[in-house]
Amino acid sequence: MGQLPPSTLPQHVAIIMDGNGRWANRRQLPRVAGHRAGVENVRLIVERCAELGIRVLTVFAFSSENWRRPPTEVRLLLELFSGALEQEVEKLNQNGIRLLVIGDRAKFPGKLRRRIDKVEQLTADNEGLTLVIAANYGGRWDIAQATRRIAKAVASAELSPHEITEESIAQYLCLPSLPEPDLFIRSGGEQRISNYLLWQLAYTELYFTDCLWPDFDQAEFDQALASYATRQRRFGMTGDQVERARLPTSSTG
Ligand code: IPE
Ligand code: IPE
Ligand code: MG
Repeated sequence: MGQLPPSTLPQHVAIIMDGNGRWANRRQLPRVAGHRAGVENVRLIVERCAELGIRVLTVFAFSSENWRRPPTEVRLLLELFSGALEQEVEKLNQNGIRLLVIGDRAKFPGKLRRRIDKVEQLTADNEGLTLVIAANYGGRWDIAQATRRIAKAVASAELSPHEITEESIAQYLCLPSLPEPDLFIRSGGEQRISNYLLWQLAYTELYFTDCLWPDFDQAEFDQALASYATRQRRFGMTGDQVERARLPTSSTG
């Protein structure tokens, strides 16, 4: 696929990287081999986003529900995450990529928490792609933590109840300063949100593919972008209204 015209390129892509376990099973490999291949694949997609000039990529690495997996798998997933942070920091800086981690860090071991803080600090001034990793993240957790902070602000009279609006709630959720996702991609064949960015996905275009995450290469990603480019985002308006708004002002009215 050639370069997409910038107007049809999403600014923010959010991905559920699913299907690592099945990818490994099909090869009669242990599940962790699928997770390793999955981490490798993140690099390819990050590269493609940077190359195309996408501003934000948010990937789901570990959900608040993934603690329900066997303890050995949970441990391996956290080790892989920690190892990838350590290995990638230099490359992130070379490529001008800023890294942010969203989710409840309190449950992570101290070493991992410190490593996350360090990588965020070291990449904070980078101005290229923003890579957001959702780790121990859940959309309901996000809404609950925002609500707790709003309640505190009201209790201390920093905020009055009539100032609680859709816009102000968004400021207390994760990713307040970033555009909401334009395109959501889920690999692995399931058609569900699995407690990902519940509030932020309200008007996101959804794309589901059977392709398993370790096989989701740059060509598959480009296919998702091509699908996005054909969508008409109406945000409640009529198709005609959207079309008219696209025309130069001189030819309307
Ligand atoms: C996604 O792959 C990775 C994580 C949830 C961490 P899965 O491990 O869910 O793969 P499947 O769904 O079992 O194939
Ligand atoms: C969603 O995948 C979470 C991540 C990819 C990190 P799961 O494989 O955990 O989702 P469910 O449980 O099948 O919905
Ligand atoms: Mg899965």
